[in-house]
Amino acid sequence: MAESLIIDQTLSKEEKYKALLPQIEALTTGETDLIANISNLVAALKQGFGFFWVGVYFNKEGQLVLGPFQGPIACTRIPYHKGVCGACYTRQETILVPDVEAFPGHIACASESKSEIVVPVIKDGEVKLVLDVDSDKLNDFDEVDQKYLEQLMKLVESWY
Ligand code: SME
Repeated sequence: MAESLIIDQTLSKEEKYKALLPQIEALTTGETDLIANISNLVAALKQGFGFFWVGVYFNKEGQLVLGPFQGPIACTRIPYHKGVCGACYTRQETILVPDVEAFPGHIACASESKSEIVVPVIKDGEVKLVLDVDSDKLNDFDEVDQKYLEQLMKLVESWY
C-alpha cells in the first residue's frame, strides 16, 4: 500500500484526476474490506482536491445511509425520493448541481455547500451507494469531474 499520496497542487483538475486515480487503485489493491477502501478513497479525494465535503451514502434498510466521509457532520439518512442523493438513486445516473439553491428538494446538510455532484455505483441494476461531493463554490463541478468520478465508481463497483 502506498504510504502517502503524491499530488502536485499546480496541476490542472484533469491532470490531478489522472494522477490520483491510479494511486487510489494502488492504495486499495489487495484490501478486500469495502469500508476500509471507501474510507481511503474519500480521504484521497479530500486531500487531492480539498473538496468541502466528500463521502458516500449506502443503499441499505430501504434508504440511503451515511458511510465514510470527510468534512463537516452530515445527515445520516436520506429517503430515496429526497435530495440530490435521492435523485441520483432514483434516476441511476450522475447528477451535477451547479447551484444547490436551484435544485428542488436539495437537502442542505451544511449552509456552506453551494454546488454538488452525486455519482452512483450500480451493480446488477441496483444502486449500491452514491458518492456525494460538495463544494463551497458555485458551479464548481463539470464534465471532467463527472468523467473521472464515474471511472472511480467503476472501481468501487468491482469491489462488489
Ligand atoms: N445535499 C445532499 C445531502 C447530503 S449532504 O450534502 C452531505 C442531497 O441533497 O441529497
